[in-house]
Amino acid sequence: MTEDRSFGPLRVRGPESEPRPEPTWDESTVLAHEFFGRRYHRLLLLAPSIARRARAGQFVMVSVPPGSDGAVLLPRPMAIHRRHPAEGTLELVFDIVGRGTLALAGAAVGQSLLLTGPLGRGFEIPAAAMEVLLIGRGIGVCAVMPVAEDAATGGRRTTALLSARTRASIIGLDDAAELGVDIIAVSDDDGSSAVGAVDRLLRERFAARPPSVIMVCGADRLARLATELSVEWDVPAQVSLEAHMACGLGYCHGCAAPISARADEEGPLVCLDGPVFAIGAVV
Ligand SMILES: Cc1cc2nc3c(=O)[nH]c(=O)nc-3n(C[C@H](O)[C@H](O)[C@H](O)COP(=O)(O)OP(=O)(O)OC[C@H]3O[C@@H](n4cnc5c(N)ncnc54)[C@H](O)[C@@H]3O)c2cc1C
Ligand code: FES
Repeated sequence: MTEDRSFGPLRVRGPESEPRPEPTWDESTVLAHEFFGRRYHRLLLLAPSIARRARAGQFVMVSVPPGSDGAVLLPRPMAIHRRHPAEGTLELVFDIVGRGTLALAGAAVGQSLLLTGPLGRGFEIPAAAMEVLLIGRGIGVCAVMPVAEDAATGGRRTTALLSARTRASIIGLDDAAELGVDIIAVSDDDGSSAVGAVDRLLRERFAARPPSVIMVCGADRLARLATELSVEWDVPAQVSLEAHMACGLGYCHGCAAPISARADEEGPLVCLDGPVFAIGAVV
């Protein structure tokens, strides 16, 4: 258990119900590249072996093509935002934050991108869960959206609180609508994304009956709220974390989550034990 985050202790979950799919190295092809929300890039990639096996909340390491200032040595981790197994495709959504994502923004339709995946331990919907609450902010929406795909297939109801700085930059509204999700969209520009306002909205929405599980990604303050609601409602909660990753495969130990209580002990690896961890109520 780690105490490093402002939202409280993280727990590595118990044994997985099924073995994880073995990662493969896939030469994917860019089928579409869309710029949307004034800042995000969405890539549709043909990557059949990963698209057919990836679980919700898993990620890929993307080998970035050379940019205008030369080669980018290390691959970059990206959540698998959507899986289309019948077509053998998957979608990644990213924001430009540095050299790697800037170079990736130059990926052209028809270009090959080397992917390693699927990687990590993703979100797991408890077998008895009938209603899932997803909370995503900014690019963090990408990690939780595949849970809505699984919930739709399994006949479960999903509510997604989707948050961003501006209305125009909320990710996943179209995906959630397509998947029959009950959407609560909030943003900073009208004040609706303030954590107190979100707290009230969720308590109103679930006043009659709490959701069976909460899954969150994208903001520590929302993870903290998920922790509080999880304890109060006595339902499990899971959070997807980000970390700097060199390998994504458990070799370099560069992604260990720090354990404040024991400076001499390595924390769980975000790429292998996570990126999804348990938080909140122990149920
Ligand atoms: C499991 C996982 C899934 C991710 N999914 C997505 C996704 O779906 N879409 C997306 O846009 N991004 C995602 N990220 C983050 C993405 O990997 C980084 O933004 C990217 O690696 C930055 O590379 P760069 O070369 O552009 O920036 P760099 O030049 O490496 O960094 C630019 C700035 O961003 C900071 N930074 C870089 N990586 C991270 C990180 N992992 N966490 C916090 N700060 C960081 C650096 O400190 C620096 O300030 C994910 C990360 C992880 C670990
Ligand atoms: S990124 Fe190398 S061990 Fe996690």
